[in-house]
Parts: sequence; structure tokens; C-alpha cells
Amino acid sequence: MEFIVAKDYDEMSRLAADKIAACLKAKPTCVLGLATGSTPIGLYAQLVRDFEAGEISFADAATFNLDEYRGLSPEHDQSYRYFMEQNLFGKVDVEPSRTHVPDGANPDHEAACAAYEQAIAQVGGIDLQLLGLGHNGHIGFNEPADDFPVDTHLVGLTESTIQANSRLFDSIDDVPREAYTMGIGTIMKARSILVVASGADKADIVKRAFFGPVTPQVPASVLQLHPDVTVIVDAEAGAQCA
Ligand code: F6R
Repeated sequence: MEFIVAKDYDEMSRLAADKIAACLKAKPTCVLGLATGSTPIGLYAQLVRDFEAGEISFADAATFNLDEYRGLSPEHDQSYRYFMEQNLFGKVDVEPSRTHVPDGANPDHEAACAAYEQAIAQVGGIDLQLLGLGHNGHIGFNEPADDFPVDTHLVGLTESTIQANSRLFDSIDDVPREAYTMGIGTIMKARSILVVASGADKADIVKRAFFGPVTPQVPASVLQLHPDVTVIVDAEAGAQCA
């Protein structure tokens, strides 16, 4: 594992974007695994700038996002598909049919999850998977549990997640109760993994995830067992790892 402490959020975003840009340059047909959340917004903005400067192209790449709410259409402004359109897909030359997000509008969860795993396998697997880190160590929607879920699956959101998300919806009743997420096995099959974390509120979990015991109670800790992981944090998130 390579563990890099950047001086601030901007440097973290630049270094992480460089890693993705290098993947696109080395293999224009690369398959990128992508994440939503606040942490990657800066690195997506940087990738858009790199694209506008003519330094990178997504024209031959494919993308697979980690997760999506079940029951939200792609047009819903809180769907992860919408987030990706706003922050990256709508601003670069990626071919829309090669961008993949679990199909939140498909109520048949077994079909939706199986189709996702199959689509990833069909393109030969993920070359570089980007991950954010939840405060409890979750990656994707894989929350602390007694074991590591393997494949893409349906999860029920915890009450605290529903409460936290309610600020983004008209009422708490509108907040999705479930989501589709890649499993830990899906993530671990990626050939390389890039984790980003920023802010003092992530310092404790960064230390536990990457320097503590490997346990499904801290899902990200499993990444310590992956042969090609880069973790890029800002100084605040890395403060306990000096
Ligand atoms: C997003 C995802 C989540 C986030 C995590 C951190 O697709 O799967 O696991 O990466 O919740 O979110 P932020 O970056 O908002 O702190």
C-alpha cells in the first residue's frame, strides 16, 4: 500500500486526478470504477480541466460506479447517476453507453445486481477503482458487518444514513431506504485501487482502516490485503498516521 499525505484538499485532488489521468494515458480503453460523495468532487473538476486542456480523453474508456439508490430514476437530482452527469460525464468525452451505474430504477434487485456483475466481467474487469471512505469505514454502501459481502447486492440504509440524507430531500419519507452497491469482492477484484479521504473528521477512520486490524467491522481495512492500493489523504485526514 502506498500512503500519501497531501498538504490540503486541492493537492489531494490533483494527485488523485493525476493517477486516473495516467491510467487513461497508459490504456485509453481502461475501465474506471468511480465513486460519488463530496471527497471526489475536486478530483473530478481537475479531470475536467485536464480534458479541456487536451491532456486526457475518456473517449475509449468505460466507467462503473460503486453504488446507486434503489428506487431513484437516473434523472432524480439525488441519484448518483445525476451526480456523475453533473460532475464528470456531462463535461468530458466519455461515451454515455459505456458509463455504468447500478440501475436504481430496476425494482428486481437480483436482476439488477447480477446484470451489474456481468457487465463488469464482460469488459474484462475494473482497472482502477476510486473509493471514498465513510466515517465508519464503509466503502460503497458496504457498512460494518460480521462478514465482507462479496458481489453487487441490495442493502438497507441505516437509520443514521437516512437521517443524514434527509436534508437533501423534501421530506424524510422521500429518502430511499435501500441501495445497490458493489460488494467487497467486486471492489477487491479491481486491478488497482485509489482511496481518497479529506478533513479532520476522517482522521480516526483513516488510521483504523489502513493501520489497524483487518476486520469486516471496518470494511475499508480489507484493502490492506489488496496488492495495489494507493491512499491519498489531506494533512487533516492523515494527522493520526504520522
Ligand atoms: C460513494 C460511496 C460512499 C462514499 C463515502 C464517503 O459512491 O460509495 O462510500 O465514498 O460515504 O463520502 P464523502 O466523500 O462524502 O465523505
